[in-house]
Amino acid sequence: MKKVLVATEKPFAPETLPLIKEICDEAGYELEVIEKYESQDDLVKAVKETNAIIVRSDKVTKEVIEAAENLEIVVRAGAGYDNIDLEAATVNNVVVMNTPGQNSNAVAELALGMMVYFARNLFNGKPGTELKGKKLGIHAYGHVGKLVADIAKGFGMEIFAFDPYVDDTDISKDNVTPVSSVEELYQICRYVSLHIPANEKTRKSINYDLLKQMPQGGTLVNTARKEVIDEDSLLKIMEARKDFYYLADIAPDCKAEIEQKYEGRYYFTPKKMGAQTKEANVNAGVAAANQIINFFIKDDITYKVN
Ligand code: 3PG
Repeated sequence: MKKVLVATEKPFAPETLPLIKEICDEAGYELEVIEKYESQDDLVKAVKETNAIIVRSDKVTKEVIEAAENLEIVVRAGAGYDNIDLEAATVNNVVVMNTPGQNSNAVAELALGMMVYFARNLFNGKPGTELKGKKLGIHAYGHVGKLVADIAKGFGMEIFAFDPYVDDTDISKDNVTPVSSVEELYQICRYVSLHIPANEKTRKSINYDLLKQMPQGGTLVNTARKEVIDEDSLLKIMEARKDFYYLADIAPDCKAEIEQKYEGRYYFTPKKMGAQTKEANVNAGVAAANQIINFFIKDDITYKVN
């Protein structure tokens, strides 16, 4: 009997696990769960006999993979898989998948929600600004970026996007203006919403040279990964430009310094919460379970990323 482990340091919404269990029961697989575990050792111990693991942002390191002697597949219930050691997985013949698109709407709603909250001075009662008519740049037009554009259209924003992996025609047909360079996006747009993954190419790629090109009132919205920001550059632009703002649901490592020096020019959610909705958790968790079953039964590797 195959064993499936759900290992979520940050648990799914309560509705999710019964649905994953139903899928496993139907396939005749055993389901184990560890939630809110306190140390990486707990994860290393829990994976010992498992054939499949479902995780969120949990760190699936080389140590975890090597401890899981029977492991065949890891599914990241979500989009970004920078928390998984792909090399170790590949060396150990472990398939890694994500569940693209399943939690995107939650992230997109949060990006716009933070923009509204900030534009209205964190709802402090003083006059703020509106999003209508403002230029929004979407940096990477994948599942989340596209949904951000859809919602922003409702606010009457003027939308631009940069994504070297998406055809301009596919962007244009959504009534979004494609731009041909990342610099152009930052030059044009007062708001830029980041939707790039964290990988070797993108880490620290959002730097001073790029940010300094943003127009008056430039506001960077990060619901992607903190690692894509060059934090020295972030501090430099905050210092150099009193009209620059930074909003994120993944606070930077330099959070304390920003809070101390730049009051009123930032907003960080207390915890990472882009995908924290019941719907996103259910969609991603159920998709992950189904992908595991399809992998074991039909050799389906549709969402393999390694
Ligand atoms: C993702 O990559 O899917 C999001 O960052 C969500 O991550 P989470 O599952 O840890 O909330």
